[in-house]
Amino acid sequence: MTDSLTITDNRTGRAYEVPITQGTIRATDLRQIKTDEEDPGLMAYDPAFMNTASCISRITYIDGDRGILRYRGYPIEQLATRSNFLEVAYLLLNGELPTRAQQEAWVNEITHHTFVHENLKKFIDGFHYDAHPMGILLSAVGALSTFYPSARNLNDPEVVHLQIVRLIAKMPTLAAFAYRHSIGMPYVHPDNGLSYAGNFLNMLFRVSEAKYTPNPVLERALDVLFILHADHEQNCSTNAMRSVGSSRVDPLSATSAAIAALYGPLHGGANEAVVRMLGQIGSVANVPDFLKKVKNHEAKLMGFGHRIYKSFDPRASIIKKLADEVFEVTGRNPLLDIALELERIALEEDYFISRKLYPNVDFYSGLIYQALGFPSNMFPVLFAIPRTSGWLSQWKEMVVDPEQKIARPRQVYLGEGIRDYVPVEARGQQKELART
Ligand code: COA
Repeated sequence: MTDSLTITDNRTGRAYEVPITQGTIRATDLRQIKTDEEDPGLMAYDPAFMNTASCISRITYIDGDRGILRYRGYPIEQLATRSNFLEVAYLLLNGELPTRAQQEAWVNEITHHTFVHENLKKFIDGFHYDAHPMGILLSAVGALSTFYPSARNLNDPEVVHLQIVRLIAKMPTLAAFAYRHSIGMPYVHPDNGLSYAGNFLNMLFRVSEAKYTPNPVLERALDVLFILHADHEQNCSTNAMRSVGSSRVDPLSATSAAIAALYGPLHGGANEAVVRMLGQIGSVANVPDFLKKVKNHEAKLMGFGHRIYKSFDPRASIIKKLADEVFEVTGRNPLLDIALELERIALEEDYFISRKLYPNVDFYSGLIYQALGFPSNMFPVLFAIPRTSGWLSQWKEMVVDPEQKIARPRQVYLGEGIRDYVPVEARGQQKELART
């Protein structure tokens, strides 16, 4: 067996042999396939990267058909039950679990970079009272780059490490400030005596108590949610991080771009959309009617379906169990019954089975976040905090990869051919331009 592909170009009758490596061919190998010397060569057309590997990565492994997710080889189920978020962030960034000494140093480093410059508070103060906290977060992270101009030096590993620590440490602080701003409450400074998740809860919810003590079940639940959201290989926001980062902009600016990608309803906004959808359905009795609309393509069942997972999303199974633990403390979320009924009926219906549509990570996470006391506009923010560790791991891998260059896809141009400029008075009646 030869690891190569023979392609016959039926336009010319010529045959080409291109090597196959790791189950892929190089798209640039297609460029030699030409009809004549003028022809720029064959390209692969792949909008939305349905079948294009954009990088070689050693961070996260997903087998969508078998519902497998592993970070650096460790199954997500083991990490969710036995590890904690900061350890997982270390693992993603460095490739190995930390020794005890490395772990202590890492936690200490993160804990001591949680404060933000006072001017950043003023920056957040400038937002309108009802500004979406995700909009505040992406702007504040972009603004961070102006506070640390040396972050542009990507050639110094110590500088790079410092930006990674800063981002992971300050993300909960900025997220909490965005939330407190949106509800008109004073900002709460980080408490370095608390865990990463515990301190975040402190900065969000502390009112007048001298010392905030997080509920250990809720603190752990948030930490597990952070683990589950830490990385997910080449998803939309990670692709944004790599693509923007490939221009060699500083990682703080690239992270701001990744947050923007995560803001969209088809990505990090999906759990917010799930809760809204459950509220609109209103009661278990309305579930069959809603599903009828979905099958008629009049509505989408938010929290269902995934580009990669085609049997089940392993994170959804963990989250469903976690929801029970949280609801024991907070009381049952009334929307849960609607969600359970939607899942029960959908999993029996041919529409969903034939399209391999199953609950994804967002189907239940919104209900937990709601039970923890978060308004729905904070849900994508809660996703951005842990995903920062994944974005940075992928970015770090990308900037030292000798094969990576500035990301610059090609296009298939189907627009007008060359034509002469028409002065305004000679243009006559034109069709109203379609708004795109
Ligand atoms: N509800 C109803 N139908 C859905 C659906 C959903 N949530 N997700 C996909 N489908 C249908 C599509 O309409 C399409 O049907 P068709 O073949 O009759 O046209 C088919 O399933 C394939 O969907 P497609 O849009 O090609 O899949 P995708 O891989 O491009 O999209 C998602 C993946 C995640 C964007 C998509 O499933 C979705 O929008 N889900 C809801 C949003 C969500 O939960 N996002 C969070 C992801 S973690």
